[in-house]
Amino acid sequence: MPRCLVLLSPSANHVYAGQSPRLSAAELSIICPDIRDAAPTTVAGVDYLSLDIDGLADDRLAAISRASATMACFAREGDLLRPVELPHTDLLDDDLVTIPKYQGKTNEQFTRLLLNVTLAALRGSPARRRDAGERLAVLDPMCGRGTTLTTCWLAGHDAFGVDDDAKALEAMTAHLSTWLRRKRLKHTTGTSRLRRDGRNLGKRFDAELRLPGVAPLTLAALPGDTRDSAALWGRKTFDAIVTDAPYGVVHGAHTASGSHRSPATLLAEAIPVWAGQLRAGGALGLSWNTHGLSREDLLSMLTEAGLEPLDGDQWSQFSHRVDSSIQRDLAVAVRPA
Ligand SMILES: C[S@@+](CC[C@H](N)C(=O)[O-])C[C@H]1O[C@@H](n2cnc3c(N)ncnc32)[C@H](O)[C@@H]1O
Repeated sequence: MPRCLVLLSPSANHVYAGQSPRLSAAELSIICPDIRDAAPTTVAGVDYLSLDIDGLADDRLAAISRASATMACFAREGDLLRPVELPHTDLLDDDLVTIPKYQGKTNEQFTRLLLNVTLAALRGSPARRRDAGERLAVLDPMCGRGTTLTTCWLAGHDAFGVDDDAKALEAMTAHLSTWLRRKRLKHTTGTSRLRRDGRNLGKRFDAELRLPGVAPLTLAALPGDTRDSAALWGRKTFDAIVTDAPYGVVHGAHTASGSHRSPATLLAEAIPVWAGQLRAGGALGLSWNTHGLSREDLLSMLTEAGLEPLDGDQWSQFSHRVDSSIQRDLAVAVRPA
């Protein structure tokens, strides 16, 4: 069985970089079950992820390439490292995601990790479409300035968002429109009034990107409260929902009684709404600050909403420190197929 060494991309955030080998090992074991014993290792003073892989078949190399922190891959042959060419899996340059810098932005590598492990959990028809390389529909119902949405585009999926911060949606719209123009990619973007029951709810944003040889990619973001997401999107359902809940530091969790440090009240009301927007076999991936809500309580909320949380050993490896007031974890739950 070949022993591979994966060189990890540096992260702009040094606290995250220190934890990235451990998080990447957990991610790889979920997105590519053929990978065994992924473990951080150091060779000649350089950090790698070392793994046993059952043959270097294309789909396994594609999984390594897609992993959130992969920079390069080598097969270890005695004392030598032979470069292994990884397939190019992203549809777009990653500066679409990395250029915006703002307080409260979700770490880009972590966003990719959350998307990857959520899509790995799909079952039934969404899983079959994923395995056939078809485009999936992903919703971020608290999308902020759109890190998840643009990450979905990179990975080749349609992206849909909701946020109650109109300024965040405007900033995302401006960045995406400028980026598409600057890259000279064929696209259309536009804003229009969002009306429901005769009321004006603000501006919605729509974008379509036409790349050669691929069906057009869609991105749309609606202004509004995440607990109204089902009403805002109507009958539309999603293969996956991927979201980073407010940590109570830069962003509070907005509910009828104000802005809260803990996301517990908001999530208790929002999770059942999101569960109803998932297709059968679809998956919800959520990250949150465990200082405001325990993992156990979050998993109970997911179960009460009729979802099946994934809670084996593999899934309990993702808790990590962001700073003194944020310990971030992730949970993934599936709507039974
Ligand atoms: C951690 S931030 C997400 C950041 C985003 N991933 C990014 O990188 O830009 C959480 C988001 O939840 C939004 N939010 C909080 N309460 C909300 C509510 N009740 N409805 C909709 N959005 C809400 C905040 O406006 C904020 O944008």
